[in-house]
Amino acid sequence: MNNFTYSIPTKVHFGKGQIVHLKELRESGNKVLLVYGGGSIKKNGIYDRAVGLLKEAGLEIFELSGVEPNPKIESVRKGVALCQEHEIDMTLAIGGGSVIDCAKVIAAGVRYDGDPWDLVIDPKKIRGALPIYSVLTLAATGSEMDVFAVISDMDKNEKWGTSSDYLKPRMSVLDPEYTYSVSAKQTSAGTADIMSHILESYFTNVEHADVQARFAEGLLKICIENGPKALADPRDYDARANLMWASSMAINGIISGGAEVEWCVHPMEHELSAFYDITHGEGLAILTPHWMEFALNDSTAGKFADYGRNVWGITETDDITAAKEAVKCTRNFFKQMNLPSTLSEVGIDDKYFEVMADKAEKGCKGSFVPLTAADIIKIYEASK
Ligand code: NZQ
Ligand code: ZN
Repeated sequence: MNNFTYSIPTKVHFGKGQIVHLKELRESGNKVLLVYGGGSIKKNGIYDRAVGLLKEAGLEIFELSGVEPNPKIESVRKGVALCQEHEIDMTLAIGGGSVIDCAKVIAAGVRYDGDPWDLVIDPKKIRGALPIYSVLTLAATGSEMDVFAVISDMDKNEKWGTSSDYLKPRMSVLDPEYTYSVSAKQTSAGTADIMSHILESYFTNVEHADVQARFAEGLLKICIENGPKALADPRDYDARANLMWASSMAINGIISGGAEVEWCVHPMEHELSAFYDITHGEGLAILTPHWMEFALNDSTAGKFADYGRNVWGITETDDITAAKEAVKCTRNFFKQMNLPSTLSEVGIDDKYFEVMADKAEKGCKGSFVPLTAADIIKIYEASK
């Protein structure tokens, strides 16, 4: 196991009715920028509840609505301008990962003298941020409890993740009931995203990080058990609760500290979203089994076999055979969740494979199995 520092300052209020804690925002000042998406929070009543609580607490509310899935830099710029014009003290995101990521970069952008896109492409430029709060409405990205934010500039077909300790939310409200209204498509995509975050950390060359590995296997089993339950009954509280807490645990550092590896399926997927604006979790579900097939060889078979035996209950004793079965189980699970399994299903052909692979390569050099642009093209080709 490698050395690591683990520090998650995010206070999490988990469970039914925990939104009452929004009153704590008063600790950070008087003026709040409420950031949200295309209106789901108005339909399911969270908006009215939140605004009522904020007003009761004496907070002055400014709003940035319409944040897009795969949030765009233009929304960030608008939010920064609002904060500067009104001298806003903090951001409050109510939504999924896109809304939270946008609110994070707005918060950092206010403390930066320049265009916020600089912070997306160079995390070192993030030297501070307004306090960031979130009310999570979709279990997927883990943005509610992590250092990351992912922003797109579609004019340039660029989508990059930035990260900084300053981007960790100060407090997040996680009420599983708020995810009852999440569509089947987003429930499946979110489950695939959580699983991908776990797998990206699990497939590491660092040896004997056993706490992290066994914790990761447990989290994967939770997704496999609860994803289908949430699809079958969107109001299954315990299924929604377990997915929600798994989303935070998958990426808040607890399974990656000491077992570091560069992620590679994510950089490959971010290129798909940058060029085609697809749903992140669907892209991951398409690529993951193909990445596994590509990465499986004599020297990696042991790790894949561990995954097969400890997560899928495979009893096969030969490592290569167990590993192949594990890949099959992964593919079948995504199918069971009605996720797409080919790029053509989400409208992607081979037009940009080379340019996407060239860009993705940057992020895949230090991964479990380092990937060149040529390797990435092979994975895209296999996913066609
Ligand atoms: O915009 P609204 O109307 O709110 O609708 C959203 C959106 O259309 C809807 N939704 C959210 N909560 C809902 C709901 N609909 C009904 N009921 C609810 N309770 O779901 C749609 C998708 O929302 P979005 O926020 O885009 O989804 P997700 O949470 O999957 O976030 C995806 C973004 O996060 C990035 C992705 O790349 C993508 O840009 N990621 C962020 C990470 C991070 N910050 O750590 C890591 C991830 O790997 C990922 O890259
Ligand atoms: Zn992800």
